[in-house]
Amino acid sequence: MYIGLDLGTSGVRALLVAPDGRVLHSAEAPVAVTHPHPGWSEQHPAGWIAAAAQTLRALAGIAPAEMAGLRGISLSGQMHGATLLDAEGQVLRPCILWNDTRSHAQAARLDAAPRVRDISGNIVFPGFTAPKLAWLAEHEPDIFDRTATVLLPKDYLTFWLTGQRVTDMSDAAGTAWLDVGGRCWSDDLLAQSGMRADQMPRLLEGTGTVGPVRGDLAAELGIPDTTLVIAGGADNAVAACGVGALGEGDGFVSLGTSGVLLAARDGFAPRPESAVHTFCHAVPDRWYQMGVILAATDSLNWLSRITGQDPATLTAGLGPHAQAPGALRFLPYLSGERTPHNDSSIRGAFINLDIAQEPQDLARAVIEGVSFALRDNLEALKSTGARLDRLLAIGGGTRSRYWVDLLANLLDLPIDLPQQGEFGAALGAARLAICGVTGADPAEVMTKPPLSETIAPRAELRAACDDAYAAYAATYPALKALS
Ligand code: XUL
Repeated sequence: MYIGLDLGTSGVRALLVAPDGRVLHSAEAPVAVTHPHPGWSEQHPAGWIAAAAQTLRALAGIAPAEMAGLRGISLSGQMHGATLLDAEGQVLRPCILWNDTRSHAQAARLDAAPRVRDISGNIVFPGFTAPKLAWLAEHEPDIFDRTATVLLPKDYLTFWLTGQRVTDMSDAAGTAWLDVGGRCWSDDLLAQSGMRADQMPRLLEGTGTVGPVRGDLAAELGIPDTTLVIAGGADNAVAACGVGALGEGDGFVSLGTSGVLLAARDGFAPRPESAVHTFCHAVPDRWYQMGVILAATDSLNWLSRITGQDPATLTAGLGPHAQAPGALRFLPYLSGERTPHNDSSIRGAFINLDIAQEPQDLARAVIEGVSFALRDNLEALKSTGARLDRLLAIGGGTRSRYWVDLLANLLDLPIDLPQQGEFGAALGAARLAICGVTGADPAEVMTKPPLSETIAPRAELRAACDDAYAAYAATYPALKALS
């Protein structure tokens, strides 16, 4: 048996999986986020341990016989967070999370420094780890000086499970300290934010073995003390393992709070100026590229909040088949934007509001605006040479068939909808555990989920979608000039 443990921003999810990859049981526990100041976002690592322990104890309670046959645990996690340990392994302060923007000035400085984009393959976004340490050096120098090791969030769970300070390539790629093409720490990049290689955890591939689980924990959970912890990876990389997106042509679109368009890559082909992230995959010798928009279902949730109608009601009248985009246009920059604009100060807009419009018309425009933003991401991904033949759609927004149909037409790609079931990061982590322990080929283990439907673009909508996208693409520079 194998466990996949996913440390998200809102909670921990653990899946118990059979050797053939079938999901047997799951358990979840929430974690809280605090916002001590505007733009700050923190979690205490002790809360992650409490939540992870709760899920593992729940699995031990539900399935003691299976847990007694456990062979491996692997992890997936929210990226970029700075978890600081002193020489004794004590946590020095709450973790500064991926969506914390306090270090925007340090990020801009690092991003402009010579060779940083060349080596890291990415823009240094304020959410990345390196600018957070540069901020600490200026604002909390005592903590900065006492930092013996910087761990990513899921690596702190690995430290709890094994006592070892280890990370994996896919998570390390989001620090701005990794040579993402060479898959090694870069002394040049580390020096830019005043860091040293000895403060970095040991680097493994996502299928690499960290070591056995601590004996006392094994005894408490009723699992063998030979259970191996496998390194695992960053949430989107591991989700790609969960849906079988490993190589060129494979990818997914995720309609979650934020939106992600991800393309798996066989090689390293960065193009930082496109604001596309280029990161190591969680499987060896592969990379992936992704565009991220900050408000996908968050845009619809915002409309829901201000109209007092839930998203299902707002979209109920749309039916299953997308129409050509309407005249009312929505720009979904409610929290600024990452890809392709890298603009944290831009904000959203409606254009062409009409006195006859109802909340449902605004909802359709919101869905269209988020879909246009994902088309922007597709164009940015294509500019790197990424090829996408089809996309798998995941995330809460895919409950609207209209939305997925519209995306298929606006992106001009067939979109596969998976059947109900598990195919997220926790499953991807369990699959990494299987590959790490057994040495199985990831391509054999990380298969695609069974589909409920494939939605193909319709030729009769092609011209209208392209025209509407061209009009959308012209609105960002105009809005920017006005703001
Ligand atoms: C990726 C990113 C998110 C976080 C939170 O750059 O910021 O995927 O890992 O999910």
